[in-house]
Amino acid sequence: MFIRMTVRHPLFARRYPRVSDYEDAHGALAHRRELLAGAGGRVLEIGAGHGANFRHYPPAVRQVIAIEPEPRLRLLAERAAAHAPVPVRVHPGHAEHLPLPDHSVDAVVASQVLCSVRDVPRCLAEAARVLRPGGHLYFYEHIRSPRPDLARMQRALDLVWPLQGAGCHLARDTERAITDAGFAIDRARHFDFLIGGRPGPSSPRVIGTATIG
Ligand SMILES: C[S@@+](CC[C@H](N)C(=O)[O-])C[C@H]1O[C@@H](n2cnc3c(N)ncnc32)[C@H](O)[C@@H]1O
Repeated sequence: MFIRMTVRHPLFARRYPRVSDYEDAHGALAHRRELLAGAGGRVLEIGAGHGANFRHYPPAVRQVIAIEPEPRLRLLAERAAAHAPVPVRVHPGHAEHLPLPDHSVDAVVASQVLCSVRDVPRCLAEAARVLRPGGHLYFYEHIRSPRPDLARMQRALDLVWPLQGAGCHLARDTERAITDAGFAIDRARHFDFLIGGRPGPSSPRVIGTATIG
């Protein structure tokens, strides 16, 4: 099967680092630290973007393998890797087809990426495959609102939102997808991420971990 390692989203790739830096400055930096605090060993980060998580990996992490399909973001991620406190190697590729053997990593990190991957079940099946038994999935995602009226609005926005967000969807039930893939959720903190006290369509968020048996 032919697998495209690279997908170009030039406008998104220019805009995303600024949006991400803005969110980080308004609280998302603490979310990234919370996400990664317990990570250790050999870690795979899927859809690493411009590498915003790299500087937050704790010393218990021996190595990070980062997958990013968008070339401009990948270049920025390679630069961020050079300043990371732990060894990070950045590769092209997709989370749906991971270039790693079975049971070869201790942890998989998905940070605002399960909203964007084309095939969520396939991506989570790949994460389960490469994790060692007992390995952890660390996730930080914006998710479908638990409020039916807001979830309806997110579903409506999803008719156009992915066009401006390189495939990003607002109304995905990501935790359901994680358990459907055979993971047990150990911890999940739900919250609304508000900037300047204002909610937005991607405010409902979760930070958590899940274990594969
Ligand atoms: C919203 S950005 C998040 C970037 C980064 N993880 C972060 O926390 O800032 C979503 C990222 O997922 C990547 N992506 C989209 N589809 C993907 C796929 N199928 N496999 C791996 N990465 C993907 C995009 O290129 C983009 O870098």
